[in-house]
Amino acid sequence: RLFSARQLCACRRCLTRSPRTWLAACVLLVLCVHYLLLLPRPLLTANSDAARQRLAGSAGPAGSRDGSSQRGSEGGGGNSDSGTPPRHPRLQFACRRSDAPEWPVDLGPLPAGQLKLRSDAKILLLVDNENGPVIRQLINLLEHMRLSYKTAPTWKPLPHLTSSDRGRFGAILMDSLSAYLNMDRWNRGLLDRYCRDYAVGQVAAMLASGGGGSGGVRRRRQQQRRRRQQQKLYRNGRLGDLPVWASPVSIGDLINSSSSGSANIGIHVSRLSPVTRLTKSGILAELPLPGDTGAGHWMTFNTSHEGYGYVAWFKSSNKANGDSGGDRLATVLSDSGRYDGIARVIFGYDFSPWLHAALLADALAWTSRGRFAQSLDRFVQVDIDDVFVGPSGLRMLPNDVDALVATQRRWRSRFGLSGFTFQLGFSGRYFGRGNPAENAGDARLLTLRRHFLWFPHMYKHNKPHTYASAEALEAVMLKNKDWAIENDLPISPGYAVSPHHSGVYPVHEPLYAAWRSVWSINVTSTEEYPHLRPARRRRGFVYNGVRVLPRETCGIYTHTVRLADYPRGQQRLRQLVLGGELFHTVLLHPICVFMTHMPNYANDRLAYYVFDGLFNFLTCHTNIRLRWADPQRLATLYFNSAHREERQAPLWLSPCADPRHREIWAGPKDLCARLPSLLIVGPQKTGSTALHTFLSLHPQLLPSIKHPRTFEEVQFFTDPNYAKGLLHYYSYFNYTREFTVNFTADPGARPIYFEKSANYFDQARVPGRVKALLPSARIVAILMDPAQRAYSWYQHQLAHGDPAATNYSFYQVITSDDAAPREVRQLRHRCLRPGRYANILKRWFRQYRPRSVYLVDGDQLRNSPAQAVHRLQRWLGLKPQVDYTQLLLYNKRKGFYCYRPVLSDLTVERRPRCLGKGKGRRYPAIDEASLAYLRTYYRHDNAQLYKLLRRHSYKPPGWLLALQNGGKPVA
Ligand code: A3P
Repeated sequence: RLFSARQLCACRRCLTRSPRTWLAACVLLVLCVHYLLLLPRPLLTANSDAARQRLAGSAGPAGSRDGSSQRGSEGGGGNSDSGTPPRHPRLQFACRRSDAPEWPVDLGPLPAGQLKLRSDAKILLLVDNENGPVIRQLINLLEHMRLSYKTAPTWKPLPHLTSSDRGRFGAILMDSLSAYLNMDRWNRGLLDRYCRDYAVGQVAAMLASGGGGSGGVRRRRQQQRRRRQQQKLYRNGRLGDLPVWASPVSIGDLINSSSSGSANIGIHVSRLSPVTRLTKSGILAELPLPGDTGAGHWMTFNTSHEGYGYVAWFKSSNKANGDSGGDRLATVLSDSGRYDGIARVIFGYDFSPWLHAALLADALAWTSRGRFAQSLDRFVQVDIDDVFVGPSGLRMLPNDVDALVATQRRWRSRFGLSGFTFQLGFSGRYFGRGNPAENAGDARLLTLRRHFLWFPHMYKHNKPHTYASAEALEAVMLKNKDWAIENDLPISPGYAVSPHHSGVYPVHEPLYAAWRSVWSINVTSTEEYPHLRPARRRRGFVYNGVRVLPRETCGIYTHTVRLADYPRGQQRLRQLVLGGELFHTVLLHPICVFMTHMPNYANDRLAYYVFDGLFNFLTCHTNIRLRWADPQRLATLYFNSAHREERQAPLWLSPCADPRHREIWAGPKDLCARLPSLLIVGPQKTGSTALHTFLSLHPQLLPSIKHPRTFEEVQFFTDPNYAKGLLHYYSYFNYTREFTVNFTADPGARPIYFEKSANYFDQARVPGRVKALLPSARIVAILMDPAQRAYSWYQHQLAHGDPAATNYSFYQVITSDDAAPREVRQLRHRCLRPGRYANILKRWFRQYRPRSVYLVDGDQLRNSPAQAVHRLQRWLGLKPQVDYTQLLLYNKRKGFYCYRPVLSDLTVERRPRCLGKGKGRRYPAIDEASLAYLRTYYRHDNAQLYKLLRRHSYKPPGWLLALQNGGKPVA
């Protein structure tokens, strides 16, 4: 095909005329043969396949649509390797090195801290503009990096920076350097001293103007405050007391900075800066110009102090701009702490450009001396789901299959993804269900099966949550297994994926059981936990021996087959890869499991467009080392480094709140109507059983079914019950109380399920768990004098024959120290801890607004329960309002109030019943010495509680008012 007929004739004429031409022709022939022999194997295979494909295409009507004539003959980026122009779209971008001369930097070592004290791996996020974009970006990036943080406003007193001998924060991050420089003198002094003592660094953004949006009065005031700060700061251009001068960048400078002449900003990254780690040093990063709103916010810095170094800079077109740095205008500046003992990195813009996101990770690592440094290794797994499932017209052809093999090879050698292997998900039923060309593609996949790892789906791509039993699911799995054995597929050991995430989360027990028995599955992945969005918050969990990895999104789905048809424009996909969400994912997550689909490797082969683009971009701009590991190793790596919670059962979220979860929820459909909306959380020994019993008398309130061992307590949200799952919890409420009379005329009055578990109150993880499952529940806690509560618990244990209580007096127990026997320390802990109400309530208030939390005065509940319960039923808005004075009667013999049970016809039994003998025991009053000790022990906590209740407009209980009043009762 290289020569036309005329040229060949001319050549023959030449050959007959001259022997020299003969010689030249022979040399040419040898060269051609040599060239063909040196061609890479896959290309030859692909070409020959393409030829076969064309034949197949012309054989039948379906062949006319096949891609062989439209598609390239090799895998995506593979085109460029052979020198032939690519037919599939390829993601192009400029990968440039900076040619700017570098100033030698000798920043010296970072300050070691005065006292060599230790600090925690938490970040203090100082917020100037809580609604501004910078703080949102910072929080997003911290969530991506899975770093824990605490936010605090710059204009308020700082939170406690230390606890006993440890610093609480390992880094200080700020959305506004100007707010820090203008901080109240005392606060600033405190913060700086903390940073010096604990060798904690600061990372801050400095925008030329606030960058806040418009809004209400409060926001306007904040903006005015910020403007005043800026004006103060720019009086002479110097950044407060730091030896740095700052000036905003003109839009002209931004445009001129790009060497490529494109409408980009060109930023040079220093070759010598010690800050760069993830970010490749010496690159010239091309960033898109900010929109109208962002253009005026870029800031540059200038300094001649030897402790400062340029991390990134513009090349200014205006020579007059740079006094000490020539024509360089620093946009990211590092301060080694030589000036004032604090290491800093200052950013002259926000964190929306990818470069700043990467440099932020580097800045945190540098200022913390590696404490917040992530490994440079990034493990990438690419699954191709449903390799045989897809409508005819969109399926893979033989050359697409060859391209898969070629791509694997190329990624291994070019990107260091040693051993990289695609994982193919199969449903045997759909094999060979396309047109003849596509069926040849399926056949080719089986021929080349050993190049891949295969993971099972259901035989017919069935959704597991539609199967009620493990046996039924096992049947469809076994069919697929037989098919796999028949076709001798190399199965990825212990790894499977469920169609549509069905049954993985929310968990469907039969799926886990069937997976285990048929395939011995112990690793899977999903993007549904805890929710699909936001993707950066996805996490893993372990359930019934199966490690569930979080799956990442790469922007292409089953229906995305052509770049030109990409939803909302192809530019979106480009941005996603070149510095957008997908770039962030790999930049900041050490382990990434991606799910793609078969059509992404046929048609336009968008998968190569995305991954080749991504890997090239990462390799060009970062020092990230791309790695591959099989799912088993990946799961081990992930869960070894994951937070403790991820190594346990998942957080049970209400499947009713998320439409995607609702769709794949296999459990009872009335789950959400039956889950309790009222929880009595304790603490123990405050009268929680009495309150539970009295509320149960109300016809609108339905308590949980009794447990044989824990009686009225469900204790679901505490371990080990929590791992039993939602159906276990639901079983406590799966009943309906029948009334023979209609107790309410109000049609809106629905029954309210409720439960009481007094050990919920003080367990740290319970408020979060309750909130996750019952977001709109109402919480009731009972507060009584913590000293009396502690004593009551001691008496409870004594009555149960606890050796610690029988062998040691109450005073000995509560005053015991760490040298005491274990059981004594444990009893001490159980006596004292639940009474630290302020700290514990704060945890609940973090999850629920105070208006959803009701506090009962324990003394009132004991001495005038009708009044206490009446108030509570008013708060709950119950219908009808029951007259509790008729139901609760004082019993002299018991010394407590007893109750008259309400029957199903709403009549009341005449004989009152009292609570069991374990409630309202008789024992001597607490001794003076113990009481005095406990008064001192709880003094601070009680004062905190008083403040907390006042702050949230609660009326403090009588005993607390009396204590605050020096022990005198308050009217
Ligand atoms: P004591 O047995 O030490 O007196 P809980 O149910 O949370 O475990 O609390 C038990 C405590 O409830 C009892 O502790 C008792 O003081 C108190 N209580 C309040 N009202 C009661 C009632 N009507 N009957 C029995 N105990 C009551």
